[in-house]
Amino acid sequence: MPLSTAHVATDRPARYVKQLISHMGHKATAELTGAGRGSITFRDGTCALASGRDELVLVAAAADLDSLAGVQDVVTRHLVRFATQEEVRVEWSAPADGEALEIVPPAVQDYLLAHCTPADQVLTELAVATREETGRSAGMQVSPDEGALLEMLVRLAGARRAIEVGVFTGYSALCIARALPADGYLLACDVSTEWTGIGRPFWERAGVQDRIDLRIGPALDTLRALPEEPAFDFAFVDADKVNYPAYYEEIVPRLVPGGLLVLDNVFLGGTVLDPAVQEQDQLAMRRVNDALARDDRMDCVMLPVRDGVTLARKR
Ligand SMILES: C[S@@+](CC[C@H](N)C(=O)[O-])C[C@H]1O[C@@H](n2cnc3c(N)ncnc32)[C@H](O)[C@@H]1O
Repeated sequence: MPLSTAHVATDRPARYVKQLISHMGHKATAELTGAGRGSITFRDGTCALASGRDELVLVAAAADLDSLAGVQDVVTRHLVRFATQEEVRVEWSAPADGEALEIVPPAVQDYLLAHCTPADQVLTELAVATREETGRSAGMQVSPDEGALLEMLVRLAGARRAIEVGVFTGYSALCIARALPADGYLLACDVSTEWTGIGRPFWERAGVQDRIDLRIGPALDTLRALPEEPAFDFAFVDADKVNYPAYYEEIVPRLVPGGLLVLDNVFLGGTVLDPAVQEQDQLAMRRVNDALARDDRMDCVMLPVRDGVTLARKR
């Protein structure tokens, strides 16, 4: 599924978004999604619109190159028509394949890995044990740079009480737990005793086992059983994607003001941007990404780290 972007320099981006949505609403499904943004769904393609400081950002996607050209053409023609006060230049990027989207080029990935604090002995050995004992599933583990990011975020947030949804063999749990103070608390949710069992000895070696309260069972049940009051300052979600919207709804009320929610895999390998992919995981991830961007309880920023990481801070 090809997709293409255009950055249109203008000092009235929000106005164009409104005009395009209102006009296209007669021919396609078009809606304003808040904060100067909108989306248009045509028969065989889509266009997402966002207002930047001095630009209108367009992301077009379609089933094939011809349809993509059609989406680009209709959006460009209308935009040019609405721009009566200025001359707008709409230059679309060369089509990229949404499913094979290279979020971070490998050379950049290597360079940044070589320049972030390396994983220590315990984490390195946990990664090796995970590869040996879980085979291909080991790909689910967070990378050393993402682990370092989590650890830094927990420290920067000064978090004392944290939640993790999706433990696997405990790499991210270890990064979070050791960034908490000695009397800190991590509620760690997973359904697998087998996978989490691999992590336990490493938590002990790192001296953080007392901070980790591992709950085996569907994470939604664990979260819903918590009092609905703001008692946590940090949460990391990295489990079954289809439940992300529900995890988000359960976690936000339980975060203190200033608390941080971190969501992993928000790009799903680029497929989230690809309207041809209508699987449950992608639908759920789009729903939570859209909901967060317009949630007036939260400030959020989406980072192109690995498979996409969203940081959302409760107001
Ligand atoms: C991507 S892995 C987590 C990786 C982990 N953060 C790490 O650093 O190694 C996803 C985990 O979510 C767990 N999981 C899947 N569905 C779940 C559910 N409904 N409730 C709780 N955990 C679930 C899986 O058992 C798996 O261990």
